[in-house]
Amino acid sequence: MITINHVNKSFSQKKGKSYTALDHVSLTIKKGEFVSIVGPSGCGKSTLLNLIAGFEQVSSGTITVNGQKVTAPGADRIVVFQEHGLFPWLTVLDNVAFGLKQKGLSKKERYALASEQIKAVHLSKFIDRYPHELSGGMKQRVAIARALVMDPEILLMDEPFAALDEQTRFILLKDLEEIWLKTGKTILFITHNIREAVMLSDRVVVMATQPGRVKKEFAVQAARPHQSSDPLIHALENKIMEALTDELEKVVREELGHAYSLKKNAISNSAADHMGVGI
Ligand SMILES: Nc1ncnc2c1ncn2[C@@H]1O[C@H](COP(=O)(O)OP(=O)(O)O)[C@@H](O)[C@H]1O
Ligand SMILES: [Mg+2]
Repeated sequence: MITINHVNKSFSQKKGKSYTALDHVSLTIKKGEFVSIVGPSGCGKSTLLNLIAGFEQVSSGTITVNGQKVTAPGADRIVVFQEHGLFPWLTVLDNVAFGLKQKGLSKKERYALASEQIKAVHLSKFIDRYPHELSGGMKQRVAIARALVMDPEILLMDEPFAALDEQTRFILLKDLEEIWLKTGKTILFITHNIREAVMLSDRVVVMATQPGRVKKEFAVQAARPHQSSDPLIHALENKIMEALTDELEKVVREELGHAYSLKKNAISNSAADHMGVGI
């Protein structure tokens, strides 16, 4: 279980000023839960993930994993980034097996475990390929296999599919859901794609900006595997879009000037359009 308790994070800026990236963020993620965070760019999503990963330190408040205070990276938490970060000179098999060296396993054992995870991401046919011979989606599959092979309790994913086209993204999210259902990992997934968040998650957390904070949480109570045709999923997408519209407007205003405003319902459709009034 990840417990984030009144976490503040500020960064020092020029002239001794400080910038509040996270303001009293509290959130609990249960073991085995799939939670997504959505929010406009700059609202502190990556900052929060980096704090949980132990890459950065909180300014105040606490983050614990199973009761242990997070102060540094640990083998129980592995991060998957938008940039796959594969070694270009290693094959798929060697990329996935690489991290296992620190576990003191034999080469045979490392390859056996790596092959198993490569199979789980449907890349067995490409096990001897090099990264430059793979599509963007396949590279992200390797990155996921490389994280899973270490068998962490928690996967922290920071917009892992953001650079992929819509179709590839959809297939990958279905496969990730399947992996999650099989392995029972705890997953914290950051995205700015609402559909992706709802399709994957048990719970979607909407963050607000300036300063970055938790605005609202939505439980996704649809049957697994989630179906995009499920009216519950569809209605929730609209609700989350509504919750985000104010925040997006704030960001655009910051860029274009304060006279800017989004037309009401410019982005979202009311849930009632799809569900029938009164549902
Ligand atoms: N190391 C840093 N030093 C100074 N400011 C930072 C640093 N990291 C992030 N920030 C600022 O904190 C805010 C939140 O950033 P980030 O967490 O990357 O947002 P998001 O991932 O939601 O787009 C941004 O305004 C960003 O400029
Ligand atoms: Mg980010």
